[in-house]
This record gives sequence, C-alpha cells and structure tokens, in this order.
Amino acid sequence: MTTPHHPQLAPDRNLALDLIRVTEAAAMASSRYMGLGDKNAADDAAVNAMRAVLSSIPMDGIVVIGEGEKDDAPMLFNGERIGDGTPPQVDIAVDPIDGTTLVALGRAGALAVIALSERGTMFDPGPCVYMEKVAVGPRGRGCISIKKSPTENLQALAEQLGQPVRDLIAVILDRDRHEVLVEEVREAGARVRLITDGDVAGAISTAWDASDGDILFGIGGTPEGVIAAAALKCLGGEIQGRLWPRDDAERAAALALDYDLDAVLLTDDLVGGDNCFFSATGITDGELLRGVRFHDHGAMTQSLVMRSLSGTVRKVDGFHRLDKLQQISSVAY
Ligand code: FBP
Repeated sequence: MTTPHHPQLAPDRNLALDLIRVTEAAAMASSRYMGLGDKNAADDAAVNAMRAVLSSIPMDGIVVIGEGEKDDAPMLFNGERIGDGTPPQVDIAVDPIDGTTLVALGRAGALAVIALSERGTMFDPGPCVYMEKVAVGPRGRGCISIKKSPTENLQALAEQLGQPVRDLIAVILDRDRHEVLVEEVREAGARVRLITDGDVAGAISTAWDASDGDILFGIGGTPEGVIAAAALKCLGGEIQGRLWPRDDAERAAALALDYDLDAVLLTDDLVGGDNCFFSATGITDGELLRGVRFHDHGAMTQSLVMRSLSGTVRKVDGFHRLDKLQQISSVAY
C-alpha cells in the first residue's frame, strides 16, 4: 500500500544521525542482559529504550515493521505512531535486537537496528514472518536471481567478480531447513559460513569490506529482510526475497490478504525510493561492530549509520556518561 508522495513532507535532513541515539540506547539497555539467559528481558529493555528515544525525534513515523510477532516478544506495535508528529512522514522498521539469543547467551554479533524510509515505501509483510533471501554487496549487484538455484547464483557471482566459485563464501543461517541448501552450496564448490543468528549482519557482511561474506542465502525473518534491504540500499548492494509461509494457516492468511507468495521482492519492493536511513549499534562484539563496554565513567558504543540518498556510511564511537543520562533520560542503563 503506498500513499501519495508529498515532497514537502519527505525527509530532507539526515535522520540516520537521530537514529543513532535510538540504537545506542537499545544496545546499552539490552547489553545489561548479556549472557543472563533471558532473551525476553533483553528484548524488553531494548524495545523500551528504543521507544523512549524514538518518541523524542522530530518526525511523523509509522511502525510498518514492529518487533515480536515471531517470538511473542514485547512490541513496538505495527501501526504505532512514533516521533513528535511533525514532518517528515516516514515508515519505520525496528529490530531492537537482531539476535536475542545471541544476547541471552553472550554470543557475538547481536545488533540493535532500525531503518526508516519515506512514507509508503516500506514493504508490509502482513502475516508472513519468514522470507527466502539472497543478498550480495555492490560488486555482485545485478547478477543474482532468487528464481535461480544457489549453484547458478554462485556461478553468476563468481563470473561477475572474476573469481572462481571456490573463492566465495556463502553466509547461511544454521537451521535444519537449510540442510539441502548448505549441501548444494558445498557441492557447487563455495565455502560456507554458518551463522547461529543475525541475518541482518549476515546480509551487511556481503557489502562490508572488512567482512568475508560474498553472498547470503536462506530463509530468515521478513522484518530482517526489509531492514537488510535498507542497509544494502545504503551500501549499494542488492537483496531479493520471496515470502515463505511457515504453515497452511499462515499461507491462507497471506492469500486472503492478496499477498502473491510467488512474487520476487526486489530491493526496491522491500524499501522503495532512494531516501532511506539505517542505524545499527553493536550489543555484543561482532565482525561489523564492537559491543557495549561499561567502565567506571559510563559506557562505550559503536554504531553504523547510513543514508541511501548521500551514500554516506559512518562508523561512530559513542562515549556515554551514564551518571548524566540517568538525570535526563527515562531509560534505565
Ligand atoms: P531474533 O533476534 O528475533 O531472535 O532474530 C534472530 C534471527 O536470527 C534473525 O536474524 C533471523 O532473520 C531470524 O532469527 C531467523 O529466524 P529463526 O531463528 O526462527 O530461524
């Protein structure tokens, strides 16, 4: 569903620089739960921190992709209005923690993430919690197709990069449902990096020079797919997706709402236009970002902040005085 585009209501400032405060807050609050074995408590802390800071941002936002449907976790509700209600009008996708289990178990790579785009440009997955994905960085853009087999995609990517398939690394969520996929990728000759969680970071790794990923394959969360689309749009990469209903009930619900389950969702279908914003802050240490560190004066964070219109990518170190924040913020760090 798209709403008419009103140029005067579209974002003309770099909202990503506001969003960094949102993901920093979510990361700091949730990192207190690192390794404590309680993913809902960690998520709760991230959601509350995110909501508190988001409400202070001058914008008229609607949450198109909220948190929690898959795991019955605490919510930033779909359809919730966020911001102080003044222009610009934007769509919001949140993932207060991508990798709740990573945080609960103290494992690497958990991120607090948010993406924004102009009103009416963000894909609403409705009842479809999962989607099939294939994603590449800027060097691989234009050669992949989710309609092709993993082998064909690997060969096309290898040809475009001028490298043999055996040089390539495919990033895949380590799930039983991917057994055949992993076998095929190995058979095709590529190397495989199995990740336990966090396919937003997995998708970004295909576009991130310091990371080893060349292509992401597999079925993961739809919210993560939309957020990854925003990130890859900022980085010049590409993602393609196809909705993947978990069961007959989800399939029937999607069909009843006129979702085309065979449709190929291109990057532009997931996040339209070229004015989207992305911010992620590390919760636990990962290959993209350092996790939150606490010290006697406060906390240190590291964030990735991007805007597609300018293509500017910033990696930002934050130094936070918790004693001061406690006096002015409702968030408990
Ligand atoms: P959560 O933080 O919501 O648990 O998501 C983590 C994640 O690994 C995502 O990155 C991924 O898209 C999704 O879960 C995969 O779902 P599942 O764990 O159900 O296979």
